[in-house]
Amino acid sequence: MNSPSYYNQLLDITHSRNILVTGGAGYIGSHTVHRLAQRGYDVTVVDDLSRGYRHNVDAARLRELNLADTPALEKLLAEKPFSAVIHFAAYIAVGESMVKPELHFSNNLGGSLSLLSAMTRAGVRRLVFSSTAAVYGTPETSPVTEQMPHAPVSPYGESKVMVERILGWFDGIHQLRSIALRYFNASGADPASGLGEEHDPETHLIPLLLRAVLTGQPITLFGTDYDTPDGTCIRDYVHVADLAEAHVLALEALLAGSASDAFNVGTGRGHSVREVIRAVEEVTGRAVPVRVGPRREGDPPVLVACSDKLRRALGWKPRYEDLREIVATAWEFEKSRRPG
Ligand code: UFG
Repeated sequence: MNSPSYYNQLLDITHSRNILVTGGAGYIGSHTVHRLAQRGYDVTVVDDLSRGYRHNVDAARLRELNLADTPALEKLLAEKPFSAVIHFAAYIAVGESMVKPELHFSNNLGGSLSLLSAMTRAGVRRLVFSSTAAVYGTPETSPVTEQMPHAPVSPYGESKVMVERILGWFDGIHQLRSIALRYFNASGADPASGLGEEHDPETHLIPLLLRAVLTGQPITLFGTDYDTPDGTCIRDYVHVADLAEAHVLALEALLAGSASDAFNVGTGRGHSVREVIRAVEEVTGRAVPVRVGPRREGDPPVLVACSDKLRRALGWKPRYEDLREIVATAWEFEKSRRPG
């Protein structure tokens, strides 16, 4: 029979406001930490700062740690009763994964496995997992529902599919409940928090367009011969603050006893690259220098989310539904990085 202190510990874990966030120094992670703190959660961040930034996290919360260090994670999880983990830490550059698959598999898969085993030992059994639209590869129909087949076309997407599958086994065997959130195109910034999108190197469309405006250096438009109305790729741009809110809702569903599940996170509206360029021109009042180039390998022509399931089950509703508003927040951030 288990001792009373065992049950007390379980109760603590169930009700504590202590949340561990891996990768909390990154773009989406830091916005989510900000939102969690606003909601009164006590957040500890694990990040090795290999891709995230120290300035995105309060020093008092940050534990500089690589997820591969299972004993250190176990020790950290034993320090106080954590009720859940939100797991962002991963390499995300699709192009890099096509050149160095070993890097993405060892970091994304290895890090997740290490985290899951530390959680299992510490008795922490709730996890929100940062997944991606890349699990669907090049979907044949649009919008994409969660039921559509997993057919990743990059090691990055494959690593996320593999972790989602592993989570299924941890649910069955260790009763570890998880919610996977499959993001479409995360974008924008929460300027009130000082946070924004920073990647090195930057590969994402909106920050690159804004930098092209600021520097006068042209951006290359990857392909104008797609089977879309204006020939350029269509994506579902979802504001990072709305993504952060989806994490809080998923966390709270798990804390309330929700079963494991997976949800798309997107607005359900698609915008072509040319439309994004126009939005940037409207917001900044300046022309974007653009050069047309060939298609980028692996880009699906259209990627738009059906997010009905998330709206229905968790009551999620994006606050940012206008692309210009999203771009405007990113523009504020880009300008703040380049004073004058
Ligand atoms: N694009 C350009 N020029 C650039 C950069 C991007 O034309 O310099 C185009 C791309 O071809 C694409 C669109 O802008 O059509 C958006 O590209 P991003 O690189 O901003 O985003 P992706 O749609 O390629 O990537 C997103 C997520 C990834 C995820 C992927 C799934 O950022 O994490 O969707 O397909 F894996």
